[in-house]
Amino acid sequence: MNMTELDTPAALIDAVQMDRNIARMQKRMDSLGVRFRPHVKTSKCFEVARRQRDAGAQGVTVSTLKEAVQFFDAGFDDVLYAVGIAKAKLPQARALRERGCRLTIVVDSLAAALAVVADGHGFEVMIEVDTDGHRAGVRPDEDRLIQIGRTLHEGGALLKGVMTHAGGSYALNTPEALTAMAEQERAGCVAAAERLRAAGLPCPEVSVGSTPTALSAHQLDGVTEVRAGVYVFNDLVMANVGVCGIDEIALSVLATVIGHQAEKGWALTDAGWMAMSRDRGTQAQALDYGYGAVCDASGAPIEGFIVSSANQEHGIVSWRDGSVCPDIEQRLPLGLQLRILPNHACATAAQFPTYSVLGAEGSVTTWERFHGW
Ligand SMILES: Cc1ncc(COP(=O)(O)O)c(C=O)c1O
Repeated sequence: MNMTELDTPAALIDAVQMDRNIARMQKRMDSLGVRFRPHVKTSKCFEVARRQRDAGAQGVTVSTLKEAVQFFDAGFDDVLYAVGIAKAKLPQARALRERGCRLTIVVDSLAAALAVVADGHGFEVMIEVDTDGHRAGVRPDEDRLIQIGRTLHEGGALLKGVMTHAGGSYALNTPEALTAMAEQERAGCVAAAERLRAAGLPCPEVSVGSTPTALSAHQLDGVTEVRAGVYVFNDLVMANVGVCGIDEIALSVLATVIGHQAEKGWALTDAGWMAMSRDRGTQAQALDYGYGAVCDASGAPIEGFIVSSANQEHGIVSWRDGSVCPDIEQRLPLGLQLRILPNHACATAAQFPTYSVLGAEGSVTTWERFHGW
């Protein structure tokens, strides 16, 4: 099949660019001397994860137990479930381990640690560390870090290490600030590991990562592994953060022009928010792309055009500066295919059951992705 035959809207992967993104990250991790464990919640797709593994990645990070099951069934047996475990999910986690999956779970509270040891299974567990005040985790200097570690270790769990995710990096946009955040993430997580070790507890693994910090760290002393997810596709938020170029975004939504409001300078497409997602991640950034940046069918940006507004199945394309394009019907004629670059690749990909994958030779194949919990 070729691209013009695709039903739109379609989630289009530029496989050549994706492979470049994979190679870029793996090369960085190799040069920093750390293992790389991609977060597969971005693609939720085996073919993508296989390419990450073929490039040198070891293990996967997942955000749901369903992802853990799906990836294990597809031959990925080293899985970090990087969301704090709920007590009610322990039987599911245990069942997966009993099938042979090396599943690691995460806790950041004494209550969760107690629930894990009460299960009696001997789970492999990491303690989540908060290195930037962004979300979950125990701060490196808190007493309860040691209490949680001791509870796990003495209760028969395998204390595998500490992990952190500097999601605060998404709000930054200068190389200096990003490098400082990467160092803060590294230093905080290593400090937590050292405190656990000083208390006589095992802590072999120190796992850090987000795409901005992974691509900005200058040194990762004391870190054993890095996780990153969105780098595999990149997106407009990452372009605004400054860790990729617009031309390095490998995921787009293929859309068709279905109408015009010429006096308003609008072209209407069949890719509304149901296709792009409601994620308006660039709204708070330096360059607001609305619901997406508009490119031609070859992927070249059509300067100045964004999806300025969206209904469920209609995207409204117009000039970013709010002025009226005088010849919109000629510039973007009816039936024209466009590629719309997403604000947030993970969210946009999640709107689709499959990917249409554009190879180097121009043909398109279909890859499955999965959903749900
Ligand atoms: C725990 C954890 N690790 C790693 C990542 C990967 O971050 P990114 O998508 O910025 O690479 C995420 C993303 O949300 C995460 O939640």
